[in-house]
Amino acid sequence: MSTSRLRDFSRIVFFTGAGMSAESGVPTYRGAGGIWKEYDYRRYACQEAFVRDPEAVWEFHNYRRGLVARCAPNLGHQIVARSGRRSARVTVVTQNIDGLHALAGSSEILELHGNLWRVRCDTCGVKQQDGHVVREVLRCDGCGGWWRPDIVWFGDYLHEPTLDAAQAAIAACDLFVSIGTSAVVYPAAYLPEYARKAGARRVEINPDETPASELYELHLRGPATEMLTRLADGDAELLA
Ligand code: APR
Repeated sequence: MSTSRLRDFSRIVFFTGAGMSAESGVPTYRGAGGIWKEYDYRRYACQEAFVRDPEAVWEFHNYRRGLVARCAPNLGHQIVARSGRRSARVTVVTQNIDGLHALAGSSEILELHGNLWRVRCDTCGVKQQDGHVVREVLRCDGCGGWWRPDIVWFGDYLHEPTLDAAQAAIAACDLFVSIGTSAVVYPAAYLPEYARKAGARRVEINPDETPASELYELHLRGPATEMLTRLADGDAELLA
């Protein structure tokens, strides 16, 4: 059975989770060193906490910004970005908020859970995109209210147009590569189902098995950088 390279596919979707950025030094949420082991998201990462104690939410948010600001895209991000220049069409559907896919040069990126570096004021209906820095000004200059991190917290709805675009890209792809997600948070965790229905080749890159593993035809059990290198070099048994 001949193997195919990434460039042999015309429409690729890379579906990424926190494991994609683990080798850049960004902590994952669950598993060893997971951030939710150290911080209770009910105190630091939900609308209720933001209303109750915005200072604590901003302290946690700026802590994460400070940490991620020191992280750079890894070889995996670069392979994904490079394949976007070689293959007919590549879409990155990411649960990550760290901005590392964009830094690596990927162009078509759908951020399902928002962006660590963007804030919004729900009173004035405005957004601001910051650089990769902690934020000093925490109150909106228009109304004096708190800037809200523009990320999807637990209990929030996803941005419908972004989710629709992700579903459409996956429904049209011929290769779906999931990288570094525990597949436990919905509706993102349902997206591989669209790839199965589309008859796309489905690859799961994760050192561990996940509840979604049975949906995939090929499981590359290792770190993202090593497994993406194998995939890009055609060393993985990607059925033709
Ligand atoms: N390469 C590939 N995968 C890795 C690596 C690595 N180097 N290191 C860890 N992983 C895998 C873990 O085995 C795990 O399955 O990455 C996954 C990370 O899982 P989570 O921490 O749960 O991250 P994610 O799936 O992105 O979480 C989804 O949950 O808390 C919310 O909004 C948050 O977007 C996040 C969502």
